[in-house]
Amino acid sequence: MEKYVIKGGVPLDGEVTIAGAKNAALGILAAAILTDDECIIENVPYVEDTKVLLRAIEALGATVKYIDLHTVSIMGKTIDRDNLCVDDEYIRKIRASYYLLGSMLGKFKYAQVALPGGCDIGLRPIDQHIKGFEALGAKVDIVSGGKVVAKADELIGRHIYMDVVSVGATINIMMAAALAEGKTTIENAAKEPHIVDVANFLNSMGANIKGAGTDVIRIRGVQRLVGTEYSIIPDQIEAGTFMTMAVATKGNILIKNVIPKHMEAISSKLSEIGATVIEYDDSIRVMADGRMKSTQIKTLPYPGFPTDMQPQMATTLALSSGNSIITESIFENRFKYVNELARMGARIKVEGNSAIITGIEKYSGANLVAPDLRAGAALVIAALAAEGCSTIEDIKYILRGYEDFDGKIRALGGQIEIVDNDRDEQKFKLRVS
Ligand code: EPZ
Repeated sequence: MEKYVIKGGVPLDGEVTIAGAKNAALGILAAAILTDDECIIENVPYVEDTKVLLRAIEALGATVKYIDLHTVSIMGKTIDRDNLCVDDEYIRKIRASYYLLGSMLGKFKYAQVALPGGCDIGLRPIDQHIKGFEALGAKVDIVSGGKVVAKADELIGRHIYMDVVSVGATINIMMAAALAEGKTTIENAAKEPHIVDVANFLNSMGANIKGAGTDVIRIRGVQRLVGTEYSIIPDQIEAGTFMTMAVATKGNILIKNVIPKHMEAISSKLSEIGATVIEYDDSIRVMADGRMKSTQIKTLPYPGFPTDMQPQMATTLALSSGNSIITESIFENRFKYVNELARMGARIKVEGNSAIITGIEKYSGANLVAPDLRAGAALVIAALAAEGCSTIEDIKYILRGYEDFDGKIRALGGQIEIVDNDRDEQKFKLRVS
């Protein structure tokens, strides 16, 4: 099985270009089937999650083509209306399969999708998605075999109040409501940059969506949507991951193709602990020298500190001086990396939904297992900062959301390789020793 082997201790230095936002891409690719026309989508990250979703869209009968590595053409006209069912062993593993519920329901008034999986970061209900679909007039059932079936004679715009701020439910309701009759208002909507990106994409198809990026989104349903060409925003979390990597390895990285505004929560915390963060129009330089200071962080919906950056930030704070506290308020099971970091020498105690961190001077290399996508990225950061060699198994999680992660790190001077046998692992270790 493939794993990373990493020799730490090198300050990362150079430039890295950030890919398109995975979590925007997943919504946008699913939304493309709301029209029969061709949609050309640029800046699609070439990661496992987008590949799996595209395979599911193709399995529905849509015509899907890669124009180049990051540009995808989707034409929904060829979808088989008698088989609006998404279920394979892969789609069950990705969370974003639920976006096909919203887009198929919007377009065909029928959808059948295997219940979403995704990273095991806690109980991840979809009650708010269902509440939204039902408010629009759909009947939603969970049938045997773990499938969600949503159907409607017609979808009618309504006022929907979200009980919890949910990225996925907000996007799903926007998609279903785009072709509903009349006006839908989503109150207590999520405000993440990818919500705005999906709304912009839908508007470029002819939808009438206002207020995305605020907590009240107003959607006036239209009769039909048309083909479009659209470029996805840069990935906030990939950028944040490289920012923390610069700090943890005491390096100097210019992170290109970012929207600095989206990075504010992360930039300000890194500045607060002592890193240098310089913002340019579409790039950010992050430098760190010496030991950072401690801080307190609570994850919150955007514009708060993103839960998807919590493990990477904890890994960085575990090397800072003093005591830090990180409180996770979005998902209840997002501290699974703590045991792995402990094996590298970290001193972190989890109490309820908080991690209490006592900073240490250095990590020592260890054999680790990635528990999920962002926790996996955090372990890579720890291994790059550590003394000695580490291995990280279960990198399949990391490959779901980071494009060419090891290649980008190598270009910054990091010593990392993917190996799938002991001989190659030993060869790497000999080479870097
Ligand atoms: C999205 O997940 C992202 N995934 C996650 O990214 C991210 O961590 C999360 O938003 C929060 O920012 C995708 O975009 C594909 P939510 P999502 O619905 O939409 C509760 C990554 O690493 N909730 O905003 O599934 C839920 O339990 C990942 O890239 C309900 O109670 O998250 C959680 O506590 C992993 N009922 C909170 O809301 C619902 O119906 C926020 O979840 C829906 C959610």
